[in-house]
Amino acid sequence: MKLIDTHAHLDLLDDPMAAFERAKQAGVGQIITVGIDLESSRRAADFSRDLLGVFCTVGLHPSEATKASPDLWAELKLLALTVSAVAVGECGLDYYRDRSPRHLQREVFNAQIELALDLGLPLVVHDREAHKDVLNMLAKSGAERVGGVVHCFSGDAVLAEELVSLGFSLGITGVITYKKSDELRALVKKVPLTKLLIETDCPYLSPEPYRGKPNEPAYVTHTHEALAKALGISAEEVGSVTTDNARRLFSLPYMEE
Ligand code: NI
Repeated sequence: MKLIDTHAHLDLLDDPMAAFERAKQAGVGQIITVGIDLESSRRAADFSRDLLGVFCTVGLHPSEATKASPDLWAELKLLALTVSAVAVGECGLDYYRDRSPRHLQREVFNAQIELALDLGLPLVVHDREAHKDVLNMLAKSGAERVGGVVHCFSGDAVLAEELVSLGFSLGITGVITYKKSDELRALVKKVPLTKLLIETDCPYLSPEPYRGKPNEPAYVTHTHEALAKALGISAEEVGSVTTDNARRLFSLPYMEE
């Protein structure tokens, strides 16, 4: 059984090629590398073309919302089609950093929900202290037709249930390995295992015992183990179910070698 890192930023790593090799050694068979603007979406596309088992998304992060323009949407759409992107995103709302005006963040998120519906691709959603608006926007836009993942899920059990009933999955990062994350460890037990994905969000959010150091796809193994422990089921089962979940959501090919 191979694991899948469903949310990496390979273009932000110091040495992506070495990290890719270490991921393979660690049993991480597939990696989804995520775009945050046009340039990083293009770099993600290059990785997906050059590295077997690497797939890309195209999107505009809420912190980059001021870069939006009609041309940018046309370019992202063309890129998604020409490189077989597996999702649109990461997109969403970030009311914690507030790096772009909130009304613009919402406009840009809506544009990407429409793009995902247009392309028939799932969404990779970023939600930081914007739970209510993210949920409402997904619910009102018909986004359940394509579904997706709310990556690095940080809400409560009520939000988890609402997102799951809208057809969304929840991305679990290295945060689940942190001492203070009792609430998250309790929450995952209330979510159907078929709706959980594991991810690194590398180079950010390194799991224990690497907290404070740069993260990389190989470390998703630690998140996987912590999730299994929190759920009280075998690492083998959690690995094979979360891998199947990722393959189903992002239509990834079956690859065990
Ligand atoms: Ni990310």
